[in-house]
Amino acid sequence: MDNKQLIKLALKAMENAYVPYSGFKVGAALLTSEGKAYTGCNIENISFGATICAERTAMFKAISEGETSFVKLAVVSSADKITFPCGICRQVINEFMPNGEIILYGNGKTEIYSVSELLPHSFDNEF
Ligand code: THU
Repeated sequence: MDNKQLIKLALKAMENAYVPYSGFKVGAALLTSEGKAYTGCNIENISFGATICAERTAMFKAISEGETSFVKLAVVSSADKITFPCGICRQVINEFMPNGEIILYGNGKTEIYSVSELLPHSFDNEF
């Protein structure tokens, strides 16, 4: 699956975002090394800390289905610019897809980052 197709899936997933508090929709699509895609959207809660981001929804859906190997994650939002994953999502992405690509799409433009570019000097298990 190419980046355009993955972005398209993220845009479709964004339609399901539940965002009564922020009004800010996010969609994500995660590609496994075997070519299967898992999507996610952000889901908010009146107890704000219970909100989950689109990226983690997609990752946790995939992991809970037994997937362990990922290559790309596309992220889109309702803003008319690129949206970067939050710090917590970066840490989760680093845990499960440390060598993958993060594809950010907004306002007709695509930017691609490695995980280590977005989370340099990450906390790891070498303590
Ligand atoms: N959000 C995401 O879904 N992903 C991010 O990486 C940044 C933030 C969501 C959470 C919340 O529903 C809304 O955006 C505003 O913070």
